[in-house]
Amino acid sequence: MPRLSAIDAERVRARDSGELRSGADVLIRLFLEGWPVAGEAVDRWLGARGLLEGLRLIEPYGEDSFAATVTLYPVMDLFIASDRFNNVDGSKFVGWDDMVYQCLLPTTERLITGVPRTGFESVLDMCAGAGVGGLLCAKAAKRVLAVDLMERCVHFVRFNAALNGLTNVEARQGSLYEPVGDEQFDLITAHPPYQPVWRHLQTFNSGGMDGEQIAKGVIEGGPKHLKPGGRMYCLCQLSDRAEPAEVRVRGWLTAEEQAEVDIAVVSFRHRNLIEFTAVSALCENWQAEDWRAWMEQMQPLRIRDLVYGMYVLQRSAGGRKVFTVRREGPAAEAEAISGLVDWETRAAEAGFADGVRGLRLRLRKSCEMSVRMEAGGGTWKPGTAMLRNTLPFESALQVDERTMELLARMDGRKPLGELLQSVSMRAPVEKVAALVHLLVSKGFAEVVG
Ligand SMILES: C[S@@+](CC[C@H](N)C(=O)[O-])C[C@H]1O[C@@H](n2cnc3c(N)ncnc32)[C@H](O)[C@@H]1O
Repeated sequence: MPRLSAIDAERVRARDSGELRSGADVLIRLFLEGWPVAGEAVDRWLGARGLLEGLRLIEPYGEDSFAATVTLYPVMDLFIASDRFNNVDGSKFVGWDDMVYQCLLPTTERLITGVPRTGFESVLDMCAGAGVGGLLCAKAAKRVLAVDLMERCVHFVRFNAALNGLTNVEARQGSLYEPVGDEQFDLITAHPPYQPVWRHLQTFNSGGMDGEQIAKGVIEGGPKHLKPGGRMYCLCQLSDRAEPAEVRVRGWLTAEEQAEVDIAVVSFRHRNLIEFTAVSALCENWQAEDWRAWMEQMQPLRIRDLVYGMYVLQRSAGGRKVFTVRREGPAAEAEAISGLVDWETRAAEAGFADGVRGLRLRLRKSCEMSVRMEAGGGTWKPGTAMLRNTLPFESALQVDERTMELLARMDGRKPLGELLQSVSMRAPVEKVAALVHLLVSKGFAEVVG
């Protein structure tokens, strides 16, 4: 199994995993499959029964067995405990409102792989759940503050910090930034609930009628709690309406903040509102009339598309214009997402255009060029040429013949100035800078060295 998020919990549980033959078998049976294990088998293969009981990670079950009180699993180099998502006896599991979200899901995996973990002294983990977002940063940071609405989550964050020997993590309970005070951070990591819901489901997933209720609060409050140069990475789903999501996000900020905050969105997936809400309604057994009433309430919002992705806000350290950008990156991870923000920051700085001729650029291997042939005069002639790429971003750019030649020579060895000469391209510096800006920003090329 390449990643723990590939676990289909119910299937794993239902399979016959055979005889216990090692300590790892016992841990998997107890903490992932969630079945009870005989005390004798715990002692024989794992030992440490007293320790696990003392930590209240297991408790007696039946005559002579033990069962886990939580789900417990490795995430990168940490062990994380969160609430169980099954019953010990195999009966139908019904979740409850303040359940602690498990980090084994592909959603949290997006947070784990999408947020950079090093280079930040102070970190705020908003909507922390079991705390994985902040805890993963704690080894490299001086201080981590984790905040969640639910008391239960705060206990889990404290437990998980202690379990992993992390002493620089503080957890506080409260809504949004209420428990944070005026403190500012280098990094804010956030994974709020963002599911549009007709009725409240669970606190970890219910984002209000349009899904944006909590995420909007997290984003609006972000700039006040960022140090100059600090960044917030918010994994959520917002919507394109009359304006695209990133433009709407800008509109949520005060005029002062707008002048100093950059916004970059890397979209992982687009969803259709009707399909999404209809599937939710089916899964939750909501009546057709409920769904219709819900859609009627949503109609004035003119939602075109739900955009699930990483929303990054950067508080500029000053002295340059701000940017707003969106890229489509279904498989993009932290390096690509942070790389986009780094590059856009560089391109927004005064003097960027003057330096581009000295850059060495390399076209990414995943790029391809397609030329449309057009009929005319009894033959086929090359028409428009499109440069396309999928990794790290899905991008397309129409290019002319001269640019095609230039791109073919971009292997990272010679500075751009020399390449321009070799294809006799004599464009003004601003035009060259604009092309270079786009090539790197859209992920066609990377800067070498
Ligand atoms: C999708 S879970 C994410 C948990 C964790 N960050 C992760 O990725 O596994 C959303 C979390 O937001 C918390 N939450 C919901 N409303 C909140 C609010 N108003 N203020 C702070 N946290 C909130 C929930 O309790 C839940 O733990």
